[in-house]
Amino acid sequence: MDHFELKNGVMHAEGVPLPEIAQAVGTPVYVYSSATIARHVEVFREALAQVESGPEGPLIAFAVKANPNKAVLATLAGLGLGADVVSGGELLRARAAGIPADKIVFSGVGKTADEMRLALSEGIFQFNVESEPEAEMLSEVASAMGVEAPIAFRINPNVIAGTHAKISTGGSEDKFGVAYDRALAAYARAAELPGLSIRGVAVHIGSQLTDLAPSRAAFEKIGVLIAELRAAGHAIVTADLGGGLGVPYDPAKPVPPLPAAYGAMVREVTTGWDVRLLFEPGRVIVGNAGVLVTRVIRVKQGVTDPFVIVDAAMNDLMRPSLYDAWHDIRSVTPNGADMTANIVGPICESGDTFAKKRAMDAVEPGDLVSFMTAGAYGATMGNTYNSRALTPEVLVRGDDWAVVRERQPIEALIAADQLPPWM
Ligand code: LLP
Repeated sequence: MDHFELKNGVMHAEGVPLPEIAQAVGTPVYVYSSATIARHVEVFREALAQVESGPEGPLIAFAVKANPNKAVLATLAGLGLGADVVSGGELLRARAAGIPADKIVFSGVGKTADEMRLALSEGIFQFNVESEPEAEMLSEVASAMGVEAPIAFRINPNVIAGTHAKISTGGSEDKFGVAYDRALAAYARAAELPGLSIRGVAVHIGSQLTDLAPSRAAFEKIGVLIAELRAAGHAIVTADLGGGLGVPYDPAKPVPPLPAAYGAMVREVTTGWDVRLLFEPGRVIVGNAGVLVTRVIRVKQGVTDPFVIVDAAMNDLMRPSLYDAWHDIRSVTPNGADMTANIVGPICESGDTFAKKRAMDAVEPGDLVSFMTAGAYGATMGNTYNSRALTPEVLVRGDDWAVVRERQPIEALIAADQLPPWM
């Protein structure tokens, strides 16, 4: 469910007509709905209400990579969420947005010693360590600081997630985590190292998961491992089940499992684990809470279908060109007529295509168009290819709206380059 609806024929974000924002801020522009974010947090939390997770209940650590805008993170902080971060930058952003350090989990295969120091000095909840060499580095860094790093090993369960290959992370050939068969040895090694305090296990098998079976298989393996680790003398008090739950993009496709079904599956598999559960949802919290609003520059005739050239491009929303991702494309002011078109941006490569042969609302030059479900992995993956400035972002709350990231002036982009002294 989202709060982007037609009112009197004009698409609104909650109480705000999108043309008002487009007029004031220009296009392209990302628009987020606070009410949709809050709703998804509530739904996710309710879905987990019945899981066994100790006295504190589950820790929901939002995957910051999905949408790191400070205002979005502050909204989530206000709703009590923690953060799953994968870089020092994300850690600093989460802290700046008011997320307490003791609700922050640090994931990722390539944490540097500097990032480890930063996270230790902040006092984060847990490091999800992805290899034995990483555990050794963390041990050295923590020992030198005279502190203990709370750790879980991220386990690679060798389960095929059934999602796009580029966002599948739980197969044995993927770079993530400690191989399931190496897990006992990795924990034994970590137990010998100073400066580490073993506290849990972690798993995350991929993103945009539309079938619960692979997650269930991975979690069942984690359950077996927890028993084995305890038998080997390790105190396991947390289990981080990662993120990955898919969201609906294409209304013609079956709806992915709802959070309630996910929660019921988690409950079935994890009852009796006697741990605090952690979750790292990203897309399911913010995916439907954002749209990318763009304006049609011109319509160009094609051999079969016309090309609708919009002022957003692959640098603003990379998902279609990177993963052939499908985003619903709607007119902000639909007139009831339909067309079949290729929707493309102005960038000079054919990959700058949002959709081919798409049946959609009829649009003309000057019309506003929304790319739906762009709240996750949208602005955050933006770049400046073709010397296009980063896209501004707006947050709506009820009838109010505010720019939460200014459009980057192109002069600032150019001024960031420097000539060498010999020029
Ligand atoms: N935890 C870890 C360790 C992750 O690597 C990720 C996502 C998440 C949690 C959150 O997953 P989510 O709940 O959002 O599925 N750029 C791609 C998605 C990349 C996901 C990377 N990891 C896309 O646009 O589809």
